[in-house]
Amino acid sequence: MFETLTRVPDDPILGISAAFKRDTTPLKVDLGVGVYKDDRGNTPVPAAVRRAESEVLAAQSTKTYLTPVGNPGFNAQMLELVAGTDQAGRKGDWAAGQAPGGSGALRLGAELLRLSSPGSKIHVSDPTWANHTPLLSSAGFQLERYPYYSAIRHAVEFDQMMAHLEALPAAAVVLLHACCHNPTGQDLSMTQWEAVADVCARRGLLPYVDIAYQGLGDDLERDAASIRLLARQVPEMLVAVSCSKNFGLYRERTGLLLALTSSNERAGIAAGQLGRLARTIWSMPPDHGAAIVDRVLSQPELRRSWTEELAAMAKRINDLRRLLADALSARTGGTDFSWITRQRGMFSRLDLTPAMVDTLREKHHVYCAPDGRVNIAGISASNVEHVATSIAAVMGYA
Ligand code: LMR
Repeated sequence: MFETLTRVPDDPILGISAAFKRDTTPLKVDLGVGVYKDDRGNTPVPAAVRRAESEVLAAQSTKTYLTPVGNPGFNAQMLELVAGTDQAGRKGDWAAGQAPGGSGALRLGAELLRLSSPGSKIHVSDPTWANHTPLLSSAGFQLERYPYYSAIRHAVEFDQMMAHLEALPAAAVVLLHACCHNPTGQDLSMTQWEAVADVCARRGLLPYVDIAYQGLGDDLERDAASIRLLARQVPEMLVAVSCSKNFGLYRERTGLLLALTSSNERAGIAAGQLGRLARTIWSMPPDHGAAIVDRVLSQPELRRSWTEELAAMAKRINDLRRLLADALSARTGGTDFSWITRQRGMFSRLDLTPAMVDTLREKHHVYCAPDGRVNIAGISASNVEHVATSIAAVMGYA
């Protein structure tokens, strides 16, 4: 029966990592998958995470089951990290379900939506993370795109985005990136978030916010400000949270789905449904990463160390933005790349056609996503010359 299966094309993001590994040239540069890297190209485990991990292992006397909604300490700590210590003035209205990574959280949220508003469409930004579309459509949703990014102005197409949202029917779901927009790095300003919250509240739209890079844009508080603002204005929303990048826990698959409901009672019902849904998909989420995050956030010394290391990571990325913009400008006769410095998070999307991306990879051994998305954290003082010269060459400036 498996003869009916067809071969799967390479994943647009993970396929780059595989191709990069096969390349034996020493000067190769990986700007593909969104993982943080230090100046030597390593993806570190934050010191606080390392310490918390050994403390968790030392203290753990059993590995018996927790619950389908996961580790209660992790859920409570993460709710406060994302929504603020006052939970955006909505204490008791949030339901939480731990999930295997941000992708698991997105799937859990989609399953909850299928129950609560089966006919709704999900509207995603144009462009959005390459995995949003297959992930959400395989959960049974029809997706539509709202205008988001102008590759000409390197800015948000805000008027067009708002016109799209204003025309949506009630109960439409709007997927938003809380910060560090993937793939463009172009975030909404707080004034623009105010307008988005207003249209969602007026038209009864459900914000579904993806936050995968909290702390890697400006800082932990500012990167979550959009969620707190929305939570004060809309009755209900969903938030899919990833701990992959900010805690460096990628392979431990640590994430969380938060559902903001209109009352304490509804939050209890939603939490019950999240547990039931999780039980039918993965039964219970993995605890290792969640136990580590709970420890990091609940031990003041570990929390301080993690916050400082995360701030240093964000600073490094923002410094690299300047380094890349200057190097590109120098190699393209003074072309303005300052927009790269105004963007946030791991990504910017360069004006590269798929053919240019192929040449960049095949001729210059610089690997980026097919849509021209580059992982800024993959740049370093030692490779920026090669990266900028190669990009300028494929753009025709050689
Ligand atoms: C990315 O966008 O590169 C990351 O979120 C990793 C992934 O799973 O795609």
